[in-house]
Amino acid sequence: MKYQDFYNDSLSDREFFWRKQAWSVRWFDFPDKILTQNAQGFYRWYEGGKLNTSYLALDYHIENGRGEQTAIIYDSPVTDTKLKLTYSELRDKVAKFAGVLKGLGVEKGDRVIIYMPMIPETAVAMLACARLGAVHSVVFGGFAAHELAIRIDDATPKVLLTASGGKEIERIVPYKPIVDAALEEARHQPDACVLFQRDFVTSDLKEGRDYDWNELLAKATPADYVPVDAHDPLYILYTSGTTGKPKGIVRDNGGHAVAMKYSMEYVYGVQPGDVYWAASDVGWVVGHSYIVYAPLIHGCTTILFEGKPIKTPDAGTFWRIIEDYKVKLLFTAPTAFRAIKKEDSEGIFHKKYDTSSLESLFLAGERCDVATLEWLKGLLGVPIIDHWWQTESGYPMISNMMGVEMLPVKPGSACKAVPGFDIQILDPEGKNCDTNIEGAVAIKLPLAPGSLPTLWNNDKRFRESYLSRYEGYYLAGDGGYKDEDGYIFITGRIDDVINVAGHRLSTAEIEEVLASHPAVAECAVMGIKDDLKGQIPVGLVVVKSNVRVSPPQLEKDLIQMVRDKVGPVASFKRAVIAARLPKTRSGKILRKAMRYIADGQEFAMPSTIEDPMVLDEIRHLMEKSKIGVAFG
Ligand code: COA
Ligand code: AMP
Repeated sequence: MKYQDFYNDSLSDREFFWRKQAWSVRWFDFPDKILTQNAQGFYRWYEGGKLNTSYLALDYHIENGRGEQTAIIYDSPVTDTKLKLTYSELRDKVAKFAGVLKGLGVEKGDRVIIYMPMIPETAVAMLACARLGAVHSVVFGGFAAHELAIRIDDATPKVLLTASGGKEIERIVPYKPIVDAALEEARHQPDACVLFQRDFVTSDLKEGRDYDWNELLAKATPADYVPVDAHDPLYILYTSGTTGKPKGIVRDNGGHAVAMKYSMEYVYGVQPGDVYWAASDVGWVVGHSYIVYAPLIHGCTTILFEGKPIKTPDAGTFWRIIEDYKVKLLFTAPTAFRAIKKEDSEGIFHKKYDTSSLESLFLAGERCDVATLEWLKGLLGVPIIDHWWQTESGYPMISNMMGVEMLPVKPGSACKAVPGFDIQILDPEGKNCDTNIEGAVAIKLPLAPGSLPTLWNNDKRFRESYLSRYEGYYLAGDGGYKDEDGYIFITGRIDDVINVAGHRLSTAEIEEVLASHPAVAECAVMGIKDDLKGQIPVGLVVVKSNVRVSPPQLEKDLIQMVRDKVGPVASFKRAVIAARLPKTRSGKILRKAMRYIADGQEFAMPSTIEDPMVLDEIRHLMEKSKIGVAFG
């Protein structure tokens, strides 16, 4: 099959194309309609379809002879643990834990927050929610109590699931104090918290609210899967937007199941039974889609890795896992390989292991820089595939389609649009940009199945954030261009979202924290280039005129505040005092200009700037503070 034919088919008759794809999953009731629009005009896929995602990921395979195949391999160098669960064992654990949730009153449509580390119980919890038709919302462990509280108040969960802690290399991260602080701050209180005690850290339980995971499990009766509508939500996953409040991306059951199956077959080109490894965290969309749902729905063996690419124990960990489990496809963020390359540029560790099972390496989360791509190509000798997507889509929107036809790789490009996504590059007037001219990445509606139908309880923000900039299009928030062969090159965010080690963060969220310091009059946070993490946030703060501060102490305080409020994942390590910030005549802070200065990039002086001299001051300040240029 040729990529171009497949792509053309996907757009010439969308309903026919996606009806065909829908046949690849087992529905209890096949949808009556393929594509519809609701009262608000938002597109919906597979109306009338009934299914259960947990059934598709587990019971379906057992019914079809895969019960004894390994479903999940848990490999945790930080706790020195390895464990394999077959599809039958995993289904039994999920059914039993669904019984625990049911016993706590969780029913179809109820929300459950999951704030847990990378352990099998986390995947069990997600699948148990799906089994009951409950809506899970996983919160990444690197977020602080305040971020957890925001999500608790927005999702209003009936139950919160957690563990006593996680391990960051050697550092123990107790989760319970964070959960307690979040519940203290949140207006909404769940009926119950269930905590999984880990060997290396124990937590006290609060009488009447907190329950021990294993104690409840011992008393539970397994619960069966509950058929849900295709449009019923499977999960909410919060992601950073351009304000301090994260966006609750909703994923529906029907479109998601079809999309997961579709992407495994056509984007990744893997078969049921293959070992598929996404080295990410279940707190991110990559973890939802490619650690838990897609590999299981497709009948693969998935790996849940609790560790880092380096230091757990060394830069050979990834290669060891590939050898141990005969991994066929690895997917991670380029930053992981920049970390490995920094420690082992000669690939000495790689030589110690047999990685011949690996057939392809996929990268996403940030643009894959050409140096990393070339290094990996030389080391592994397999296709290195950069592909582009977002929490919003839930699966790739630009990629080389390895299950269709592998196109030549162009370094710096994520390749071409995934069939189903009509990706265009638009100028400010909404016209298509010429070849090689940069514009906004926009997708002609409807988005393919599985993409977000809306934001949780917030249709208005959904419309405003994504649909209002260009009528009839979804605005991705990234810039990019297409070359003469139709390859798309993503150039970075066009809004105030930054990407730190493949983690998506909002500068507005960090600014809110800095601005709350009593000495700070105003501030700006921007992402500047970093050799390891791609970008790191740097804060520029203007101190109130009547306040005297020690700059090193203020920086230390601000760093701690961001760690306490947003979390260590923000990697906020620099705050610099400026006399003033560059602004337009209407008072808008020129963050983009400052970022360009920090990165040592050329830029056109904005005509609207109130006082161009400020930018020279900032340049001087950055150079003096050794920020920017040196990193660029
Ligand atoms: N719980 C608690 N703290 C966490 C955490 C978690 N789940 N995840 C990260 N953190 C902490 C880290 O310990 C670190 O704290 P520190 O400032 O005290 O050192 C901080 O958050 C920043 O974490 P991270 O960005 O992961 O940096 P790192 O220096 O620990 O590791 C990499 C850098 C590149 C090795 C790592 O980010 C990585 O492996 N990334 C690639 C894979 C990936 O997960 N991508 C996501 C999307 S695909
Ligand atoms: P997230 O929603 O956390 O997955 O982050 C999505 C954002 O990460 C996108 O909007 C891009 O800015 C960035 N991103 C993801 N994959 C790529 C890629 N392959 N190339 C460039 N940027 C990427």
